Amino acid sequence: MNRRIIIFTIIAMTIALIGLMGIQIYWIQSASAIKEANFRRSVNEAMVKVVQKVERMERNKALLINQYERMLNLNPHLPYDSVLTMQEMDSLINLQLNIRGVDIHFEFCIYKPERQEFLMEQSPGFRKDLIEKGNAFILFQSDIYTSPEYLLIYFPREKQFLLTELWGMLLISIILIIVIVYSFTYTIATIFRQKRLSEMKNDFINNMTHEFKTPISTISLACEALSDKDLRGSGEMLDSYLSMIQEENKRLAGLAEKILQTAVIDKGQLKMNKEMIDLHEIIIDVIKNLRIQVEIKDGEIKRRFKATRSKIEGDKLHVTNLVYNLLDNANKYSPRKPLIRLTTENVNNGIVLIIEDNGIGISKNEQKKIFDKLYRVPTGNIHGVRGFGLGLSYVKAIVDEHHGKISVESEANRGSKFRVFLPFVVKE
Ligand SMILES: Nc1ncnc2c1ncn2[C@@H]1O[C@H](COP(=O)(O)OP(=O)(O)OP(=O)(O)O)[C@@H](O)[C@H]1O
Ligand SMILES: [Mg+2]
Repeated sequence: MNRRIIIFTIIAMTIALIGLMGIQIYWIQSASAIKEANFRRSVNEAMVKVVQKVERMERNKALLINQYERMLNLNPHLPYDSVLTMQEMDSLINLQLNIRGVDIHFEFCIYKPERQEFLMEQSPGFRKDLIEKGNAFILFQSDIYTSPEYLLIYFPREKQFLLTELWGMLLISIILIIVIVYSFTYTIATIFRQKRLSEMKNDFINNMTHEFKTPISTISLACEALSDKDLRGSGEMLDSYLSMIQEENKRLAGLAEKILQTAVIDKGQLKMNKEMIDLHEIIIDVIKNLRIQVEIKDGEIKRRFKATRSKIEGDKLHVTNLVYNLLDNANKYSPRKPLIRLTTENVNNGIVLIIEDNGIGISKNEQKKIFDKLYRVPTGNIHGVRGFGLGLSYVKAIVDEHHGKISVESEANRGSKFRVFLPFVVKE
């Protein structure tokens, strides 16, 4: 997939997500407005009913009272407490609200603003809230000779009540959005990982083809020469061609072996043949093999065996390859006069092998990736240095098999320092 298409998809998806979230917020807001309007309507209806009921009760009671007495009374209607008790009023309101689905704690009072008097009151602590934030319903509206009296009702937990149902919606929306964002990022990360992997695979195939081509063409040239009757005559020539073919064939076999080995590691089928081995001896052998390559570049390998106990439990072949790979890298990635220092030292329960070089180094960012299979640092500097990017992943697998540790310290252009710890005994 083209990088531009991926970026375009990310932008489009981000915009779509933001849009979706916007719509979601809009819907939730509308739902909240509708819910609030419903609530207000139900409260209004309920309270109008309560007012009507109170007025009717007053009228019925008034009929039973002596009309003369009533006329003497300055109040055009009976006092509230003689019509119904506070508890009765409370259950009346409660019933009307419940019928309309409003099941929430409320505070009420009957208030006469003109005299700032509370004619009936549930709990005095809510006076201020009732007057400022309460819903007011006029009682005995038809009494035009007296100043108005109001039935005030206030819901202390109105906001929470309106939000409870919305919370559910909001929570579900948030969870869904998180799931979408997570899956989206995961997908994009996978695409990038796959893309990198496919690039690395391409590089690997290129490198491999190149590595195989050289010995193949050398062998074919030698074969051609051998088939030439004039050349075949001299025994010396014959020997040199034969050894050339043998040498190149060995190289080919080595390459094939390396690739196969990685496949084996991948499948977790790496076979270890553990025995007591002397790390110092192994190092001496590897250095012997590599010395010429380093000396060609006018470099040198300096070794310092500080470890007094150098025998460990391990697989001789794999540990040899491990040391070889690290030294080979130190040499390969030091373009000018490699100065490679190899040190061993004992720690508590094992031996530490340190390989330092003065090469191109590895930047912090890359250090995490160099142990990945097929990974090669994509810098211009190492152009021309051939490799499959398999060496360090193999080294890491071997170190893990031995229950050891490997770490790297490096700075770009300042050289690298690989530190390998191998325990004396491999505990299963
Ligand atoms: N001593 C070093 N100095 C600088 N860079 C290094 C060093 N060792 C490894 N690297 C970087 O880490 C990468 C991975 O190393 P690794 O040994 O796995 O692969 P390679 O050397 O490229 O190929 P090969 O499979 O032939 O070993 C290298 O391509 C190189 O960029
Ligand atoms: Mg290597």
